[in-house]
Amino acid sequence: MLLKSVSIIVGLLFITPIAHAEDGKFVYNKICYYCHDDGLVGSPMIGDTAEWAKRRQKGIDLLYLNTFVGTGHMMERQARQGFTDIDIKNAVDYLIEQGK
Ligand code: HEC
Repeated sequence: MLLKSVSIIVGLLFITPIAHAEDGKFVYNKICYYCHDDGLVGSPMIGDTAEWAKRRQKGIDLLYLNTFVGTGHMMERQARQGFTDIDIKNAVDYLIEQGK
């Protein structure tokens, strides 16, 4: 009986939704790839080291901010498909990491 209760409690722990951040690559492949894979509408292409070296000089905080508010033809927050700020930040980190 005790064992059964314990396993129910453990089971509940696992199905309780825990706020967790999505992996940057996952988010990239859901949203960002659409433009950044091919340099669509003038976006800096993923893996373009020269381009991303220039972008990094702006400082990471400005890159996060521009991704949140949208810059050039990049869409702003509402196009995020439910991803949080942290998820989007992870995607920025992933994109930048590929351009190093
Ligand atoms: C609809 C096309 C589009 C999508 C989708 C898109 N971007 Fe962009 N992104 C752009 C364009 C265009 C620029 C270049 C804007 C500029 O140079 O002013 C850009 C620039 C950037 C920059 C550099 C900003 C700067 O200040 O230099 C970052 C970082 C970035 N995108 C990250 C992302 C991430 C992360 C996602 C996914 C969450 C994403 N983008 C989705 C089009 C897009």
